[in-house]
Amino acid sequence: MPVITEIEDLKRIYRRRVPKMFYDYCESGSWSEQTFRENSSDFDDIYLRQRVALDMANRSTATQLIGQDVSMPVALAPVGLTGMQHFDGEIKAARAAEKFGVPYCLSTMSICSIEDVASNTSKPFWMQVYTLKDDTFMQNLFDRAKDANCSAAVITVDLQLLGQRHKDVKNGLSAPPKLTPKSIANMMTKVQWGLGMLQTKRRFFGNIVGHAKGVSDASSLTTWTAESFDQSLNWDRIREFRKMWDGPLIIKGIMDPRDALQALNVGADAIVVSNHGGRQLDGALSSIRALEPIMDAVGDKIEVHLDSGIRSGQDVLKAVAMGAKGCWIGRAYVYGLGAMGEAGVTKALEVIHKELDMSMALCGHRDIKGVDRDILMVPKGFSGEWE
Ligand code: GLV
Repeated sequence: MPVITEIEDLKRIYRRRVPKMFYDYCESGSWSEQTFRENSSDFDDIYLRQRVALDMANRSTATQLIGQDVSMPVALAPVGLTGMQHFDGEIKAARAAEKFGVPYCLSTMSICSIEDVASNTSKPFWMQVYTLKDDTFMQNLFDRAKDANCSAAVITVDLQLLGQRHKDVKNGLSAPPKLTPKSIANMMTKVQWGLGMLQTKRRFFGNIVGHAKGVSDASSLTTWTAESFDQSLNWDRIREFRKMWDGPLIIKGIMDPRDALQALNVGADAIVVSNHGGRQLDGALSSIRALEPIMDAVGDKIEVHLDSGIRSGQDVLKAVAMGAKGCWIGRAYVYGLGAMGEAGVTKALEVIHKELDMSMALCGHRDIKGVDRDILMVPKGFSGEWE
């Protein structure tokens, strides 16, 4: 294995090994990609306070997310088409997560189905659910998650329509990939990826094909979302979804304190501050800037997590110090998966854990549960005073 010391190393290998169409899908934001970029770069505006001569032996990054024990405050975010980044990608990522002791969240838009992941893992995972018009499909999805022993449902509320990512349109993104001279020429240079894909039958949207009705092209994310997703979604409908699932519920995609209060009112157990990795509303604030006003509004009433932009353990530490109970990583683990399968996801988790653990120590803390805002230097106006 090459020497991997940071997430960027995995990304470089990932880029070489995976077809351009799927690399681009992962590595895109919507429109101008301003929010996608700022989700990560805004972390650089926050500084950590170095402390010295404080006992840093016997450290722990262990904590709980929605009452479940985790080895560090990190969860693997739902990522569409993960099984196109590496064969059986969702199973591999879920296995790496369970061995590391962090939650894995499966996307509705996964290649491996709920049942595939459940029968190839030994610990419960979280199931992410999109908000579709078809009630039968929705109830079915919650029932399938229950049968698979999922330990939480995650309703993503920021995707009533799919944000436009220019490269996906130009590449003709689909799963499985459409065979055009250009896509074939590119795939032929990705030998390991191709050999892997030949080993598996899982090459379609596993939760959709055979389950969703009235979809004219089930290989196209754009067609499927445009035909099936509920553009008239409102909080009453989300309350209906709450009734379809009696386990722990997480609502993902909150960027405004008013929406955080609504999520609290429908009975969520946690919310995820997220702009979908900058893939939906381009021009939205980064999620780290959006966190503080949301903490002020609901932080003492509900667990708040942060997603979008996390690429290092220092980012996790900063978000936790600002009040997030945990962070979700998407691209950071997909880079690892595309680079080297399950071992790459484990590597991504190891990198982030090491950075988190050592940075916490250098800030004078031994237990992640005791970390607070005192370790940070946040510039005045970081969360903004907007008109
Ligand atoms: C789906 O979740 C996407 O962002 O493509």
